[in-house]
Formats: sequence, C-alpha cells, structure tokens
Amino acid sequence: MMVSRSVDVVLLGPPGGGKGTQAKRLTAAFDLLHLSTGDLLREEVKRATPLGIEAQGYMQRGELVPDELVGKMLMGRLHSQQAGSGCVFDGYPRTLAQAALLDGLLAELGRRVDVALYINVPDEELLARLTGRRSCPACGAVFHVVHNPPRQEGICDACGGALVQRADDREDVIRERLRVYHESTAPLLGFYRSRGNLAEVQGVGSPDAIFEELRAAMGRLKR
Ligand code: AP5
Repeated sequence: MMVSRSVDVVLLGPPGGGKGTQAKRLTAAFDLLHLSTGDLLREEVKRATPLGIEAQGYMQRGELVPDELVGKMLMGRLHSQQAGSGCVFDGYPRTLAQAALLDGLLAELGRRVDVALYINVPDEELLARLTGRRSCPACGAVFHVVHNPPRQEGICDACGGALVQRADDREDVIRERLRVYHESTAPLLGFYRSRGNLAEVQGVGSPDAIFEELRAAMGRLKR
C-alpha cells in the first residue's frame, strides 16, 4: 500500500526490539526515508569527526549521547534531505526534550509526527537478540546467529562483506542500555499516547508477522 501524502513516523522500542529491522520494511513499503540516529552516530565515529569523537564514549558505555549533539546532527540531516519526503525516525526521539525538538524541526518544514509505533519486547528476550546480532558495516544488513543466520557464517548475504558484532552489544553495556531506555525513553510512550497517535505492537514472533501489525497500525493512525 502506498500512502497518498508523505508521513513522518517515530519508531519506539527497547534496544534490540527490532526497530532497525522493521524500519527497513516500513521505508520500503511506504516510500519513506530511514533516519536512524544510531547509524548516523556510528558513521560519525567511523569517520572520526568531532561529533563522532565526542559521541564515542557515551555509546561505548551504553549511555545516551547528549541531546544537543544529536539534535544538531538531526537538524542537518532534515534540512539537507529531499523536500517533502517523510521519514521513519528510528531511535529518535529518546528523551522528552528530543521529542519537543523534533516537533519544532518538523513544524518548520510544515510537517508533524503523524504516527508513533511502539514495538514492545520483554527485557529477557532482548539480551539474546543483541548478543547474537551480527551486522554488515558495508551495506547495513543485520543478521542473527540463531534467528536469521547468513547463508555462510560471518559473511553478508547481500554484499559479501565481513559481518561484525557491534561494540555496544556486550552484556554489561546491553544492561546499561536497557536501564537508560526504561529511565529516559519509556516516558515517551505516555507523551505520544496522550496525543492519540501511538500504536503498540507486540514485538515477539516472526519479523514478517510483526511488520503486518505495524502496517495495519499505520493505516489506522495516519491522518
Ligand atoms: P541504536 O543504534 O539506535 O541502538 P538501540 O536503540 O539500542 O537499538 P538497536 O539498534 O540495538 O536495536 P533495534 O531495535 O534496531 O533492533 P534490530 O532490528 O537491530 O543506538 C546506539 C547508541 O547510539 C545508543 O546507545 C546511544 O548511545 C546512541 N544514540 C542513538 N540515538 C540516540 C539519541 N536519539 N539520543 C542519544 N543517544 C543516541 O534487531 C536486533 C537483533 O534481533 C538483530 O540481530 C535482528 O536480526 C534480531 N531480530 C529482529 N527482529 C526479531 C524478531 N522478531 N525475532 C527474533 N529476532 C529478531
């Protein structure tokens, strides 16, 4: 199904909840841009830009990068992107201050958060997902050693690149990311629920089945 006009979608959920996996499907199905602040920050770290150098320590510890730094990065991206394209915001906002900033940035462009989708996954499932995740630095494809293994161990099915484990997918860092999520990001559920544009989807089961739930929620909430 194609939407008749551009929409902006916020994808909420815990670390390892499947936001990246589902964001790729949503962007393809609804012709939207994928804007992942985690991916953008990892690019900055890889290129050793001043932002990347500042962000790296926070990310390695599983803490949030300060709102101001992420906000500037997002602002740059939104202003440089193709006019009129809607986005799937994956991993942004993560604090109430970030949600307010996003509202302001979108309003400047005559847009708004149309839909907030929450993928709910219990903590006990997340640890197994994240310790088993492998990703391709070359093309961004994501695998799981048990749930979604590549055809050849350690090699990306899509581009043949060598798969890696993310530096913050260590058990102690995952536990900190979960703590930070519950403390700082979970309050956003109430924020979007009170606006009447939040849909909650259970994020356990096959990625295809979860995507169908998300697609249905998009149809219900899009105004
Ligand atoms: P970020 O990269 O956004 O990480 P995250 O939110 O912790 O989320 P993940 O990317 O780990 O998981 P995901 O939900 O995308 O799951 P995925 O689809 O990969 O952020 C990293 C860091 O950057 C943060 O800690 C922070 O420091 C910083 N940062 C980023 N944004 C920020 C912001 N706005 N403000 C401040 N700091 C910020 O799936 C996980 C695994 O599970 C994969 O292996 C996948 O194959 C598998 N899987 C997916 N779906 C299923 C399923 N249904 N069943 C079984 N397995 C599944």
